[in-house]
Amino acid sequence: MRTYSTNAKLQSALRDFRQKGSSIAFVPTMGNLHQGHLDLVRKAKRLCDVVVVSIFVNPLQFGPNEDLDAYPRTLSADKEKLFAEGVQVLYAPGLEEIYPEGMAAQTQVQVPDLGNTLCGSSRPGHFDGVTTVVSKLFNIVQPDVAVFGEKDFQQLSIVRKMVKDLCMPIEIVAVATTRDEDGLAKSSRNGYLNDQQRNIAPVLHQTLNSCREAIACGFDNFLQLESHARMKLLQAGFEPDYFAIRDARTLLAVTEDTEEIAILAAARLGATRLIDNVKLGLNPVSDWGMLADG
Ligand code: PAF
Repeated sequence: MRTYSTNAKLQSALRDFRQKGSSIAFVPTMGNLHQGHLDLVRKAKRLCDVVVVSIFVNPLQFGPNEDLDAYPRTLSADKEKLFAEGVQVLYAPGLEEIYPEGMAAQTQVQVPDLGNTLCGSSRPGHFDGVTTVVSKLFNIVQPDVAVFGEKDFQQLSIVRKMVKDLCMPIEIVAVATTRDEDGLAKSSRNGYLNDQQRNIAPVLHQTLNSCREAIACGFDNFLQLESHARMKLLQAGFEPDYFAIRDARTLLAVTEDTEEIAILAAARLGATRLIDNVKLGLNPVSDWGMLADG
């Protein structure tokens, strides 16, 4: 595995691969790699000849009171994991390489609407930081395919819209959330949980699943389902940020045109903010009819 920390050296290596006709899949990460990331890498390997992984903890997507300094930096352990997966190229730039004129001077990429709801409401500017760095990384790597996890479902939707709106010639591929045996979605932030919080954490996924089951059974009072779920989370010891039943494509309220529902939640356990989501496909004619007749 070759590791590069400058755009120029990375791009020169990738030019060589391209000249030999190799296709390139890209997995952007902030490091502290866990099985969820490695599943993205495995998917990338199945899709293209060369896999490029980036590790860059992007300060632009952290709010002033968020955990940027505490965010785990584990480069040598990450390298070993990527090497074991057969990744050919690791791109691990420093801050100056990505923001040479500083972050305040950086041109920003902003996806309207989708970026302002759900996590965007409680983390203002977060998704502008994500789309800005992802578009820079896309321009640097110029992959054929980029792989993202469904755990960050809003991020995935926003990146898809950005790629479409800006006519970026990149296929965005989604990979299902990797979970621990008790259902907790794999996340770098799980490492912050103490034993008691770790025991409570799977309730987030259980609550999402119960909500999905209720909808699948025809219960269509979404406001009631959302507030019941928030109550369950509170009782379990979470401080819920949001619990929302939305159209999976628009992330807006479910309508009769909705083909797939996404149920998304964010909740804090102590200082740790966990997010998760589940989806439910609707057959446009029969399922919606069932919901509407409720
Ligand atoms: O999902 C992440 O790890 C980050 O938001 C990303 C996509 C690498 C951008 O910094």
